[in-house]
Amino acid sequence: MHRITLSLLLLCFLLPVFADEPFIMRFSHVNPADTPKGKAADRLKQLVEERSQGRIKMEVYAGAKLYKDIEEIEAIQLGNVEMLAPSLAKFGPLGLRDFEVFDLPFLFNDRDAAFKALDGQIGIKLFNKLKPKGVIGLAYWDNGFKSITANKIVRQPADLSGIAMRIQPSLVLAAQVEAWGGIPVPLPFGKVPEALRTGAVAATENVPSNLTAQKIDELQSHLTISEHGYLGYAVIINRDFWESLPADLRQIIEQSMKEVTEYERRESVTLNNAALDQLKRGGKMQIHQLNQEERSQWRKHLQTVHSKFPQLTKLIAK
Ligand code: LMR
Repeated sequence: MHRITLSLLLLCFLLPVFADEPFIMRFSHVNPADTPKGKAADRLKQLVEERSQGRIKMEVYAGAKLYKDIEEIEAIQLGNVEMLAPSLAKFGPLGLRDFEVFDLPFLFNDRDAAFKALDGQIGIKLFNKLKPKGVIGLAYWDNGFKSITANKIVRQPADLSGIAMRIQPSLVLAAQVEAWGGIPVPLPFGKVPEALRTGAVAATENVPSNLTAQKIDELQSHLTISEHGYLGYAVIINRDFWESLPADLRQIIEQSMKEVTEYERRESVTLNNAALDQLKRGGKMQIHQLNQEERSQWRKHLQTVHSKFPQLTKLIAK
């Protein structure tokens, strides 16, 4: 009896403490903090913590400090992390290869065309596929268009023949490198500099802000501004965590996410332009910009990749 009273007393003391415990929202990502995704994650933390008056505590882990590419997808399903923003090329481990539609080469002429697809029917359809996997899609973020780095001048697809190129783990990207006659090597983002140093790969494709973030200009001699592929992200949250949040906190996250998405898309333009400028002025890389004629040759050449994935092209055609 005595013990029961003591336990009840303890409970009375502890309950208010537990009731005030904030929801911890861990956001893990693979990029450095000064990239579009990194800055947006930090801005989201600031807005959500301010607006929830501390009821949500957001911990941002940049630079793959917590999890690497594939591990992070597992971690969110297990509830070991609450929020991620993987690139659309990294949804294979969830069994959702339809996200790779955005990897189809020369799919969009500009960012606005990409946003129209992401914010429209295709984007919604893809997010609907996430729910049964234990995750909810909240927004699409941007990082612009990828170009090619190598240790030789690359003017035409055949220049990449026989070359091992680092790709993100996407079947479409693998098919693209194969169409060039190259050897696709899927690797986590954080492993790229080491793989270039050891010679495990001799070429990469990425957006300027990622190239400068990883100092690829110190590891590769040539950059071809091809802008042949789109790099976007899906911001996702663990479904159980999302459903455990009171409605007003969910609303705070949704509203903040909307504002941060606009901010992220603006930052993506600014930071990628600045990064490209830095690469040009830095003088470490020889830069070749595909001219119109070369571009249309590349585009034509890569049509074979589109025909390899009829289920994806059907998605876009609708
Ligand atoms: C990559 O792995 O190259 C990129 O997706 C990294 C990123 O998230 O920007």
